[in-house]
Amino acid sequence: MKIFVDTANIDDIRKANDWGIIDGVTTNPTLAGREGRPFREIVEEICEIMGNRPVSAEVVATDTEGILKEAREVASWASNVVVKIPLIPDGIKAITVLSQEGIKVNCTLCFSPAQALLAAKAGATYVSPFIGRLDDIGHDGMEVVALIKQILDNYDNLHTQIITSSIRHVRHFVRAALVGSHVATVPFTVLEQCFHHALTDIGLRRFLADWEKAGLSIF
Ligand code: E4P
Repeated sequence: MKIFVDTANIDDIRKANDWGIIDGVTTNPTLAGREGRPFREIVEEICEIMGNRPVSAEVVATDTEGILKEAREVASWASNVVVKIPLIPDGIKAITVLSQEGIKVNCTLCFSPAQALLAAKAGATYVSPFIGRLDDIGHDGMEVVALIKQILDNYDNLHTQIITSSIRHVRHFVRAALVGSHVATVPFTVLEQCFHHALTDIGLRRFLADWEKAGLSIF
């Protein structure tokens, strides 16, 4: 499973990137709005850090013409931009056009298998089911991801990759991998939590104390 970091914060992206395990970045208007900088500047800086790895940047128009105009603009900022487009009829229409132009799209705000199938038919490179927001309203977000995976696996001509999104905790991350999601986009705080286990901390302290007591050294 590929791991994307779900943030527009440059410091967090640099830290996550330094771990060497990050395959891409996703942003959204809320995350970009927190940074207090021009959108283009944020996207270009993230794209530079990520090299050739994908960086999702979202359009805000809601009509097909507007979406196409914004998508072509955002896609021109860097070769690794993936344009994020909402899963609405005008968005799907725009994705059909953009996929024929070779512009990569992440179809966002997906909450059902039927919606995901439409995104895949339109030729979206990625589709992003929002599992945390589904859990918030009493649904099982991960069940939706599992159904989408099953549908995509049924057809050789559907090449859309699932980005499990709206991840809230480590268990979401693990379950995404268990159901075979192609990608999980993970908030930086959740990525940090993935490192931690009480027994790792206790174990390390004990090893270091025993080593010191025995007076050993490597060099
Ligand atoms: C990622 O592409 C989504 O925009 C993001 O995961 C949404 O997460 P949220 O539901 O925590 O806002």
